[in-house]
Amino acid sequence: MSMLTVMPEGKSFEVAEGTTLLAALLGAGIGILHKCEGKASCGSCHIFVQEGRKGVSKIAREENEKLDAIVGVGSKSRLACQAKILGTENVTIELLGFGSGL
Ligand code: FES
Repeated sequence: MSMLTVMPEGKSFEVAEGTTLLAALLGAGIGILHKCEGKASCGSCHIFVQEGRKGVSKIAREENEKLDAIVGVGSKSRLACQAKILGTENVTIELLGFGSGL
């Protein structure tokens, strides 16, 4: 288990190893866009991992290619549907402001 903290709300909750950030957020009732339902093809679940980057799975080729194609990407960018909690350290992510509706 890792503690996941979601900014800007500051909500924290435990997430089991192997859970995607998208599944964790939806499971906690936090709205985040996920237009392609987790296939790494829409980019709408883009979030920033602010702390604990080693606590999430590495970026695979599919995710990397999608991130390359979307606007506003930085070194902390991840697709919530692809990044999995590893359970090794606590993680803080930041939603990008357009996730309030689904
Ligand atoms: S839900 Fe589409 S890329 Fe994550």
